Amino acid sequence: MKTKNIECILSEDTFISGQEIANSLGVSRNAVWKMINRLKANGYEIEAVPKKGYRLCSNNDVITETSIRKYLKDENRYRLEVFPEIDSTNTYLKKNAEHSPSWLTIISGTQTNGRGRLGRSFYSPSDTGIYLSILLRPNMSADKAVQITTTAGLAACRAIEKCTNSVAKIKWVNDIFVDNLKVCGILTEGSLDLESNGFDWVVLGIGFNVYPPEGGYPPELEGIAGAIVNEREPNLRARLIAAFLDAFAMLYDDISNPQHVEEYKKKCLLINKRIHVCHDSEKKAAVALDIDKNYGLVVQYENGNIETLNSGEVSIRERTE
Ligand code: BTN
Repeated sequence: MKTKNIECILSEDTFISGQEIANSLGVSRNAVWKMINRLKANGYEIEAVPKKGYRLCSNNDVITETSIRKYLKDENRYRLEVFPEIDSTNTYLKKNAEHSPSWLTIISGTQTNGRGRLGRSFYSPSDTGIYLSILLRPNMSADKAVQITTTAGLAACRAIEKCTNSVAKIKWVNDIFVDNLKVCGILTEGSLDLESNGFDWVVLGIGFNVYPPEGGYPPELEGIAGAIVNEREPNLRARLIAAFLDAFAMLYDDISNPQHVEEYKKKCLLINKRIHVCHDSEKKAAVALDIDKNYGLVVQYENGNIETLNSGEVSIRERTE
């Protein structure tokens, strides 16, 4: 049987000769040599031994459509487009949303203008993270939009815990933490249809800090941002992407299931913590009591008043505050 992709033929276990690859692909030996060089240019490490052929080194961790599809279970849902570099996967999908299919997923190895919530930037160094956005056309009213973000948060936790030994927690509403450092941020943007109070489209963007960036974090992120793991692991980024996409699709198909709120609550690192609720430049001391059925954060202020927050910023208070 002829197969189209050299990435599917190469293996970490055995050498495969140039002639065997050429036969499988129905191309010349010279074309195989060019393909090998293209893979190397994409970051693959490949052992080439005369008379034996080619073998993938066991430490590869590249992000390509094939490397992701090797691990993706939901084969037909996602259309994947992988870029070596992009300004922002969210910006790209927003610009192309109208004419693109739902579930189109843009993945990049780095972003030159990664965007975060509240107009902030999102540090997106190359080779150590994952930056991806999914185009959705949800059939839900605008007030339920938070469910998309919380679903992505749960999917990220499941993916991290499936692929690594790290324990992932959620800081309401959409930051993922490992060992008290932020390893993942989520930015959900959409276009509202005012007549139906629903969405024309939504772009769900998520960035994972998989490994510590070379040269460390910029000073403003020191002690705030962290990595999911400290050492490079074979194919970890492709495995994480696939695990995230599979978990997200599964949770999304049943998005209003109250059990998701329970799972979210268990993962939430704010419950029973002393926090600050930030309104503009004002910070009010409170205690986080609960997550309600709409993913609102129930807080109690020092004067005893209880409020449910549906959006906004909170921070954990230091012991001494
Ligand atoms: C935040 O923590 O404030 C949200 C960060 C969201 C970052 C992701 S990375 C992929 C997608 N593209 C962007 O420009 N932003 C999101």
